[in-house]
Amino acid sequence: MSNRYVIILAAGKGTRMKSRLYKVLHPVAGKAMVDHVLTQVEKVQPDLIETVIGNGAEKVKALLGDRTKYALQTEQLGTGHAVLQTEDVLGDKDGITLVATGDTPLFTADTFEKLFDFHEKEGAAATILTAHADNPFGYGRIVRNANGDVEKIVEQKDASRSEQEIQEINTGVLCFDNKLLFEELHKVNNDNAQGEYYLPDVISLLKEEGKKVSAYQMADLSESLGVNDRVALSQAEKIMQRRINEAHMRDGVTIVDSDNTYIDVDVEIGNDTVIEPNVKIFGKTSIGSECVIGSGSRISDSEIQDNVEVISSTIESAVMHKGSNIGPNSHLRPKAEIGRDVHIGNFCEIKNAKIGDRTKVGHLTYVGDATLGTDINVGCGVVFVNYDGVKKWHSNIGDHSFIGSNSNIVAPVEMADHSFIAAGSTITKDIPKHAMAIARERQTNKEDFWNRLPLSNSEDWK
Ligand code: UD1
Ligand code: CA
Repeated sequence: MSNRYVIILAAGKGTRMKSRLYKVLHPVAGKAMVDHVLTQVEKVQPDLIETVIGNGAEKVKALLGDRTKYALQTEQLGTGHAVLQTEDVLGDKDGITLVATGDTPLFTADTFEKLFDFHEKEGAAATILTAHADNPFGYGRIVRNANGDVEKIVEQKDASRSEQEIQEINTGVLCFDNKLLFEELHKVNNDNAQGEYYLPDVISLLKEEGKKVSAYQMADLSESLGVNDRVALSQAEKIMQRRINEAHMRDGVTIVDSDNTYIDVDVEIGNDTVIEPNVKIFGKTSIGSECVIGSGSRISDSEIQDNVEVISSTIESAVMHKGSNIGPNSHLRPKAEIGRDVHIGNFCEIKNAKIGDRTKVGHLTYVGDATLGTDINVGCGVVFVNYDGVKKWHSNIGDHSFIGSNSNIVAPVEMADHSFIAAGSTITKDIPKHAMAIARERQTNKEDFWNRLPLSNSEDWK
């Protein structure tokens, strides 16, 4: 097998996106488009990967790191010019080079591999990956001669009326004999509607020199969708989402309404978990087996272990251990760690806090900057008062303790195991083992208060 190289073109600005974010950095299912392309390319294990960067070069580099080599294209003079920037590194190498673009996030490694294999088997100088498009607008068209052989690729803006009718398109992925590629690139001119050096012009040059050009038509057009604007971005998102959801369903996850379930590409989900409609799961989240993720939940960068139930809640950078549950309408913020079989009920917010096994935080409670032990009962409306306006303070609550409803725990407080707080207390001091703290005004009843009111003799008041 010949050596295999891949060039990813990612230097363009993406004017049609009308965005401050460079085009190839726009995410699809939570991953930048160019990262999708690179991830699939990596699976093919080529001998060398080089990415051409220009607009947003530093950002692209920061994202992709040392997974690829880089060539800088300081001026965006076209896709042919872009490929030429890799000549220093690649120019004199024997082998096959596949060129892909950073704005086609849906291609799979399987397709790249097939194209390499087909090209090698054909012994072609170049092979174009083509597809049939019902609406080919915007793509380069494959012009074939009377024998059906590929003649050239013509860009949308350069296409004659009859060429515009052609529905076979250039997917933007092409394979070349590496040395021939660079030889021909030097002959490409910019005499066209956009004044650019087009990579596809290498095809007609090779043809003129009698070299063999092949085309490999893929069955599934959706893979080759090129994202130039937000309409296509949304289409790519839909297709990617369907692919992700189907993969989870095949792995044993129940997704009740796949059209309305949004799962990022790197999310992991165990089997027999049920995802109800209108759920979003982002980033590096893992969800265990036999969980229920209820409608309206939003989970990002979190670890949800087996048998967890999440009902209409938001979870960010948090951990929920086995058998715990939350919701409806609660919020786990970063560094919340919920122990085994813990119950977090409704309208609770938990931030930078550890909740020990089997503890219950049922209703309308804020726990911020605290460590709670096991088997604790937290009443309704408890507030961990963690902030004094300058600094955040931490409180520790011992195992088997009881916090009465509507209590404030003004941090820092140490509450020992098996201790109690009476309802309505504002706690500012530590509580020793087995004690009950009560910190509120004692109730007094003002007798005959009613008689002292000025209106008490009027008819209405009697
Ligand atoms: C390109 C192809 C077209 C094909 C389509 C498939 C050319 C001339 N046209 O058109 O035949 O049907 O892709 O999606 O190749 N880029 C650079 N430097 C440049 C110009 C572009 O790095 O100077 C990069 C862009 O960042 C982008 C890719 O090359 O990732 C393609 O450029 P784009 O302008 O999107 O080309 P299309 O008009 O889509
Ligand atoms: Ca494009």
